[in-house]
Amino acid sequence: ARSNTAAKAAGKLYFGSATDNPFLDEDATYKAILSDNTLFGQLSPENAMKWDATEPEQGVFTFTNGDVIVALAQANGQIMRGHNTVWGSQLPSWVSDSGFDNATLISVMQNHVSTVIGHYKGQIWDVVNEPFNDDGTLASNVFFETIGPTYIDLALQAARAADPDAKLYINDFNIEGEGVKATAMANLVSDLKSRGIPIDGIGLESHFILGEVPTTLQAQMEAFTALGVEVAVTELDIRMTLPETDALLAQQQTDFQNVVSACTAVADCVGVTVWEYTDKYSWVPSTFAGQGDADPWDENLEMKPAYDGIIAGF
Ligand code: XIL
Repeated sequence: ARSNTAAKAAGKLYFGSATDNPFLDEDATYKAILSDNTLFGQLSPENAMKWDATEPEQGVFTFTNGDVIVALAQANGQIMRGHNTVWGSQLPSWVSDSGFDNATLISVMQNHVSTVIGHYKGQIWDVVNEPFNDDGTLASNVFFETIGPTYIDLALQAARAADPDAKLYINDFNIEGEGVKATAMANLVSDLKSRGIPIDGIGLESHFILGEVPTTLQAQMEAFTALGVEVAVTELDIRMTLPETDALLAQQQTDFQNVVSACTAVADCVGVTVWEYTDKYSWVPSTFAGQGDADPWDENLEMKPAYDGIIAGF
């Protein structure tokens, strides 16, 4: 069975993967698997559409790497999730260390959102990324510190104005199970909706630790969709402490199945995206010391038991 075919048969829009330049164009086997739309119906740029990549200098936009990914998706009939326009990380220093006053940073942010989303029309977009701390307060980034909480309203409004057809998401981690951070996200989204600020979806990143997929994942997805937005699993990977064993791979299969089946069970969960399909290019080992093998294909681009878990979950 094929993962995107299975996702569609389950009523989902897609099963997808993140991808990145330059290995996309340097590894033909990797690219051939990614291009198979029976496996992947959606692509996310791992870095190519972030602020430091798209507007490295003020007013100078570079879409080269993102355009490569969009062209591939179009050639393969794959949906794009744009990622992301407003986030406290991977900002060029001209934004993060600028000392811009409130009015200037608002206009800088609006220009960035409208130029990037205006360039990449017709996508699903993570407009605001990781706005929360784990305690449910708003994270202290340059936008929050300078503009205050309304930076979120302004970013979403600029996105809607740039492309009325784009699906607008707020994306975060540690909101996949019940808890203060998930409640804070729900409160934010219901507040946005009550004030008429455009918001279409909540992205659940889902960077999980093996054996620790929240048991309340489906319930939390239902709590979010009850607010009148869709949800998606946007950055799924399930990392283990290395070295890998057969028992760990079996647990990983169960964990992937549980995540996918939660999405399958929730009508307004539109799809599942893995944050790279292969361990060969995963961000995990360089970010979490001693951990890895978090993806459903191994370093040799072979399917792992986790892949069977995905199929079983749809
Ligand atoms: C990560 C990328 O995978 C890395 O290549 C990069 O060095 C750092 O960012 N949450 C997000 C993603 O929303 O953008 C992050 O991606 C992973 C965590």
